[in-house]
Amino acid sequence: MAKRNTYFEDEKIEKKIDLKQFGRILSYILPYKKIFILVLFLMGVSSVIGLISPLLLRAIINKVTVDADMRMLGMIIGAMAFIALTEITITYLHQTLMGKLGHSVIAVIRQDIFYKLQELPFEYFDSKPDGKIVVRVTDYVNDLANFFTNFVLMLITYVLKIAVVTFFMLSLSPQLTLVVFITVVPMMILVLMLRKVIGKLFAKLRAKNSNRTAFLLETIMGEKIIKSNNRSSLNHDIYVDVHTQCVKQWFQIFMRNELNGPIVDLFWNLGTLGLYGMALSMILSGNSLMSAGTVVAFSAYMTQFSGPLTQIAVIIQQLAQVTSNLEQVFDTINAPVDIADESDAINLTDVKGKVDFNDVTFCYEEGVPILEHFDLHVEPGQTIALVGPTGAGKTTVINLVTRFYDVQKGNVAIDGHDVRDLTLKSLRNKVGVLMQDPFLFKGSIIENIRYGRPEATDEECMEAARTIHADKFIESLPDGYNTVLEERGAGLSAGQRQLISFARIVLKNPPMVILDEATSAIDTETEKLIQEALETLLKGKTAFIVAHRLSTIRNADRILYIADRGIAESGTHEELMAKKGLYYALN
Ligand SMILES: Nc1ncnc2c1ncn2[C@@H]1O[C@H](COP(=O)(O)OP(=O)(O)OP(=O)(O)O)[C@@H](O)[C@H]1O
Ligand SMILES: [Mg+2]
Repeated sequence: MAKRNTYFEDEKIEKKIDLKQFGRILSYILPYKKIFILVLFLMGVSSVIGLISPLLLRAIINKVTVDADMRMLGMIIGAMAFIALTEITITYLHQTLMGKLGHSVIAVIRQDIFYKLQELPFEYFDSKPDGKIVVRVTDYVNDLANFFTNFVLMLITYVLKIAVVTFFMLSLSPQLTLVVFITVVPMMILVLMLRKVIGKLFAKLRAKNSNRTAFLLETIMGEKIIKSNNRSSLNHDIYVDVHTQCVKQWFQIFMRNELNGPIVDLFWNLGTLGLYGMALSMILSGNSLMSAGTVVAFSAYMTQFSGPLTQIAVIIQQLAQVTSNLEQVFDTINAPVDIADESDAINLTDVKGKVDFNDVTFCYEEGVPILEHFDLHVEPGQTIALVGPTGAGKTTVINLVTRFYDVQKGNVAIDGHDVRDLTLKSLRNKVGVLMQDPFLFKGSIIENIRYGRPEATDEECMEAARTIHADKFIESLPDGYNTVLEERGAGLSAGQRQLISFARIVLKNPPMVILDEATSAIDTETEKLIQEALETLLKGKTAFIVAHRLSTIRNADRILYIADRGIAESGTHEELMAKKGLYYALN
C-alpha cells in the first residue's frame, strides 16, 4: 500500500544514475535504429572534417607565410570554406534527424504514460496530489524530449570529437599532448565534483517544483471554496512559501553553476602557458619537429579538446537530472496495476445478480480497517439499501462490487465468481454506478449522457433524459441538448448535474445498478417522479442504493444500517421500524 504524499512533502528522489532506466529508453529507440545509425555516421564524418581546419592553419603559418605562396593560400582558403559548408550541412541534417527521433520516442512515452494512467487503480491516484501526477506527463517528459533531441546528440558528438582530437594531437606532438592531459585531468575532476553537487540540488529542485504544481492545481480546483472562506491571502502566503522554496533551491544551483566558468578558465590558461613553455623549450633545444604552425594548431586542438570535455561534464549532470525524471516517468509507467485482469479471467455474461461479500476485511490505508468480517448475501433481483452515519463505509461497500479497490481478506463474488476472476471490462459493463460525486465532462449535454454507451442514438439519449424527467430543464436551455457544459459541469446546478448523470445510467441500462446518493441534490417533487422511473429501471435487477433521504429506500427488499466496520442492523423498513433501533432513530 503506497505511502501518501502531499504538496508540502518532497517526493522521494533517487539521485544515482541507474543504467537500467537507459536500457528501457533504448527499447523505445530500437524501432528507429536506422535513423540512429545514420545520425551516428553523419556525426563521425562531421567530427573528422572539423579537425582538418587546424592542420590547414598550420600549413598557412608554416608554408604560406614562409614561402609567400599565394596559390597555395587560395587553395587552403577554398578548402576551409568547403569544409565549413560541409560541416554546416551535416550538422543541419543530423540535428533534424535527431530531433525527429527524439520527438518520436517521446510521443510513444507520452502515449504509454497516458495509457497507464487510465489503467492505474484508484489507490495510485489516492497516493499523491493530482499536480504531482500531471508534472510527470508534462514537465518531466518535456525534459526527456529536450535531453533526447539535444543532449544525446551532443554527448555522442563530443565523445567522437575528443577521440579524434586526441588522435590528431598525438600525431602532431606526444609531448604537448601530455601537457594537455596533465591540465585537463584535474580540471575534469573538479568539474565533475561540482556537477555531482549540482545534480543532487536539481533533483531537490524538481521535488520542490512538483510541490508547487500540486498546490497550484489544488488551488484552481478549490477556487470557489477558497474565495468563500476568504482564504485567498492565506493561500497566497502558502504559495509564496512553496515558490520561495523553489527559488532558494534554484539559487543554490545558480551559485554553484557559476563556478564552472572560472574553473575551466583557470585550467585552460595554465594549460596554454604549459603548452607554450614546453613548445618554446623544445624549439630552443633545437627540436626540428616543433614549429610555430604546430603550436598554433595545437592550441586550436586544445580548445577543441577541453570545450567538449567541459560540455560532457554538464551533460553528465543533466544525465543525473534526466535519470531522476526518467525514474518518475517510469515509476508511473511501471507502477503495478494491482487491479487488472488475471490471465485466465472470465467474462461476466448472463448476469443473474447474486452478490456475496464473504467475510470481507478492507482498508484504504494499512492498519485502518473500514470493513471487518463483513458478510452480505444478496439474491438476484433484490434491491439493497445502505444507510448509516457519514463515513461509516457505505460507498466503500459498493466500491468493492465494481472492484474499484481489492479486499485484503475474504472476497466479493457476483453469481458465484470472485470479482478478481472476472474481466474488469465485463464487470464494469454489467454493473452500472452512479457515483456520489457525479462528474460531467466539457462537452454537450447529449454527449455527456451518451458517455457510457457511445453507440446510442440521439433519440435514445433524449428518451433516457425523459425517463428521469430531466427533459424539462434541458429543453429550457438556449441550446437544449446541445448546450455545451464547462469542465466538471460548471454552469449547471448540483441537482441538474445529478439528473444528467442519472440519464447516463438509464441509457446504459446495465443488468446491475448501484446508486450512491443519486438524488440527494434533487428536489422532492422531481425525486418522486424519478422514483417511478426507478422502479422500471430496477425491475428484475440487483441494485444497491445508498441514500440519506429515507423516502427513497422505503421499498427496498432489505435495508442495511452500516456502522462500526460492518452491518449494525438489517431488515425491511417495517422490520427495522418495529425493532426501534438505529434505523428507527433516523425516521
Ligand atoms: N480513498 C480513500 N482513502 C482513504 N480513506 C478513505 C478513502 N475513501 C474513504 N475513506 C475512509 O473510509 C471511511 C468510509 O468512507 P465511505 O466513503 O465509505 O463513507 P460513507 O459511508 O459512504 O459516507 P457518506 O455517507 O459521507 O458518503 C471514511 O472514514 C473515510 O475517511
Ligand atoms: Mg458515501
